[in-house]
Amino acid sequence: METKQKTIGVLTSGGDAPGMNAAVRGVVRAAIKKGMRVIGIKRGYNGLINGDMIEMNMRSVSDIIHRGGTILYTARCLEFKEPEGVLKAKNNCIDAGIDGIVAIGGDGSFRGAADLSKEGIPCVGLPGTIDNDIASTDYTIGYDTAMNTAMEMVDKIRDTVQSHDRCNVVEVMGRHAGYIALNAGIACGATCILVPEIEVDLDKVIEKITIARKLGKQNFIILVAEGIGKSEEIAKKIEQATGIESRTTILGHVQRGGNPTVRDRVLASQLAYRAVELLEQGVGNRVIGIQKDEVVDFDIQEALSMKKPFPQELYDMANEISF
Ligand code: ADP
Ligand code: F6P
Repeated sequence: METKQKTIGVLTSGGDAPGMNAAVRGVVRAAIKKGMRVIGIKRGYNGLINGDMIEMNMRSVSDIIHRGGTILYTARCLEFKEPEGVLKAKNNCIDAGIDGIVAIGGDGSFRGAADLSKEGIPCVGLPGTIDNDIASTDYTIGYDTAMNTAMEMVDKIRDTVQSHDRCNVVEVMGRHAGYIALNAGIACGATCILVPEIEVDLDKVIEKITIARKLGKQNFIILVAEGIGKSEEIAKKIEQATGIESRTTILGHVQRGGNPTVRDRVLASQLAYRAVELLEQGVGNRVIGIQKDEVVDFDIQEALSMKKPFPQELYDMANEISF
């Protein structure tokens, strides 16, 4: 008896991240190599609900491994959060002959993948977000590129800060997570790093700037994660208390774009390959990650319940050497 050719779908969901294209490429190439068909689903779960899908082949993913953004587009799909939306998506999967899905996104996208898996469509999640706020993996796809972009931007800001003997409060992305702020802050020699994981004490920031000024320091970069916010206010308070002219820079979406780094391209390819291996075996409701350089996978609910510890030692070290 002839066995039916397996068909898998791939989608990108939530905020985009550099390396998503490399992940899509990895999924498409690995699946086709294993004799499967691949359907590209557009704009996250929207494409599943609206039937906005395209058949992909080896060449559909040519010339994208080095590009930021996502050729499949991404979106936040509120309808998919409702049971009716999940049911519609399930029926469209059945109509399109989709046997499994790789969903590339953050924890919200993983919740969606768990819901659809429960409905009988095996889904595997790949962590794609610049925030690195997924506990089941040491690194998320896009994080390394975003950190490097932030570092390059802060280096440029620092040139002008030094020339003018100023302070600049630089806000980087990370609504609930300070990983970009912490690492870009260390790499750029920020005087202080403010992250949502640690209570902010502005008096201490001011005291540190004052001491460092007395020690002859001329440039003051204060790296603030988006989750802290109030960057303008912080700059004003620093200027009032220290007399050092202070400016604010919000880096924003520049951190979400650009060509992915080596690390993000390799990570995306590795994780994509494992996702396809799982779907080939009919295994769903899993998320893939990397821990201590090993590719790992977990049950989605288990992964979502994990807590990522904040690297306090690294934070304390940064504080010690930034005078
Ligand atoms: P991210 O995946 O980056 O965390 P979001 O939280 O915006 O981004 O989630 C992306 C999409 O995943 C949502 O727009 C929605 O379609 C789906 N999603 C999020 N949360 C859930 C949920 N609790 N149940 C089902 N689907 C969800
Ligand atoms: O999750 C990634 C992220 O870039 C966060 O750091 C940021 O808070 C959020 O997405 C912004 O999303 P958007 O501008 O697309 O709504």
